[in-house]
Amino acid sequence: MNLHDLILSRRSIRNFTEKPVEPEKINKMLEAAMYAPSARNYQPWHFVVIQKRLHLDRLSDIHPYAGMLETATAAILVCADKNLESNDSYNAQNAAAATQNILLSAHEDGIGSCWLGVYPREERMKNIADYIKLPEHVLPVTLIALGYPAEEKEQPERFLPDRIHYERW
Ligand SMILES: Cc1cc2nc3c(=O)[nH]c(=O)nc-3n(C[C@H](O)[C@H](O)[C@H](O)COP(=O)(O)O)c2cc1C
Repeated sequence: MNLHDLILSRRSIRNFTEKPVEPEKINKMLEAAMYAPSARNYQPWHFVVIQKRLHLDRLSDIHPYAGMLETATAAILVCADKNLESNDSYNAQNAAAATQNILLSAHEDGIGSCWLGVYPREERMKNIADYIKLPEHVLPVTLIALGYPAEEKEQPERFLPDRIHYERW
């Protein structure tokens, strides 16, 4: 599939089969993540790969909208190192770019994913940071559920010409 078709056909997947995600596919996702653009090219990210059933289930309890982690076979917590980038708005934008690269890389390899918002929800950030034992200077930004899809989703129509403005509003 070409990149444009991959972008349009990616959907959030919330039901997964028991088949584990191969380590080489996870590594490819992480490589894609690290090629995302970042403010001043600081690349201030860290990634925590979570595959143990116990941890996935616990994160599903901690995060209020992460029920799909009960069937996910992996998750990636995308974090920002505040010692490398002190501006949390940039940290959020950098991590979002890395997150989208992970979703697209996963989709290309037949892996379903769901982006779970963490930053800027203080309670989620604190509970996840405590559970994963993040150092003080590391900010959890997004959590990504991963696994082989156990559901198929249609591609919705989202192109809205009236949201496009040329030169001036
Ligand atoms: C910042 C952000 C936070 C999100 N948080 C959650 C979440 O907590 N739980 C969830 O199930 N989906 C979450 N999503 C996924 C969205 O619900 C999903 O992307 C949206 O409904 C569009 O569907 P699609 O991904 O299939 O195109 C989040 C997406 C973004 C970008």
